[in-house]
Amino acid sequence: MDLINRPRRLRRSNAIRNLISETQLNSADFLMPVFVKENISNPEPISSLPGISRYDLKSAVSYCKQLKKYGIQGCLLFASINEDKKNSQATEAVNLNGFYCDVIKAIKDAIDDFVVMTDVALDPFSSDGHDGLVVNGTILNDATVDILAQMSVLHATIGADFVAPSDMMDGRVGAIRLALDNAGFIDTGIMSYAAKYASNFYGPFRDALDSAPKEGDKKTYQMDFRNRDEAIKEAQLDEAEGADILMVKPASLYLDVISDVKAATNLPIAAYHVSGEYVMLKAASEKNILNYEQALTEALIAIKRSGADIIVSYGALDYLTI
Ligand code: PBG
Repeated sequence: MDLINRPRRLRRSNAIRNLISETQLNSADFLMPVFVKENISNPEPISSLPGISRYDLKSAVSYCKQLKKYGIQGCLLFASINEDKKNSQATEAVNLNGFYCDVIKAIKDAIDDFVVMTDVALDPFSSDGHDGLVVNGTILNDATVDILAQMSVLHATIGADFVAPSDMMDGRVGAIRLALDNAGFIDTGIMSYAAKYASNFYGPFRDALDSAPKEGDKKTYQMDFRNRDEAIKEAQLDEAEGADILMVKPASLYLDVISDVKAATNLPIAAYHVSGEYVMLKAASEKNILNYEQALTEALIAIKRSGADIIVSYGALDYLTI
């Protein structure tokens, strides 16, 4: 055989492969999801999310310090609220003296130059377990958006660097931007969950926060996973409404969407490697079917390769401490 092109020359050694590798992943690419819970005094392991815990206020601060030590740039905070504080109006979501605000403040006060992003949606605070207000089985859009805007101003007041609306109501990014600006928070950013799909891979997260919908599903607001072009439309709307970072979620099963959205905008793209995507790797490795570290590395690299600038993953710390 007389071959001119031999691509295998570039795969001969680890050093050559490193030299020509197209994708690098480092600590600056990650945001870590952090679960906080009131009325506990020690971290509480989450059985459906092996390796991940819910933190009380004090341990949340030390955990975030540890994340920073490993080079992770920030956290995406989710609150688990007492059942008796949940109601149909999700009033605890706008409680300035509530536990969630205390945690935001404690982390901002204790850690310098660490990005705190807050979740903006009603599900952790709603007795219905939906991201918006529910009336006769319908999720109200505009009334929900009003609360999300108030919630965002509240988080900005406490010191959040970014608010991250994960609710998928129409027009919420514009309403949040306007409310933040009117309140003087021109520097508080918005990372919008722009293309968030009605996914079957959110189960462990809903266990972690005890926030599963009491009735129905989220298909009237989250996207249909059969759709690809619609993600571009959602991303462009959020960009036009003033989003600073656009997110695609889930991540490893939606690489086509990440790549499309990346090509359609100049904003930074975040991808959320969700609870179910993480748990599949953990569960398979516990059965000795996959090597967790290697499979996690491949999944995270694939997400970056597809165009994500920021990766939210429960495996971030594992990846950096392998
Ligand atoms: C809800 C929210 C969900 C996640 C983040 N925010 C679940 C849902 O939409 O039901 C899922 C994240 C994960 O699975 O890791 N606002």
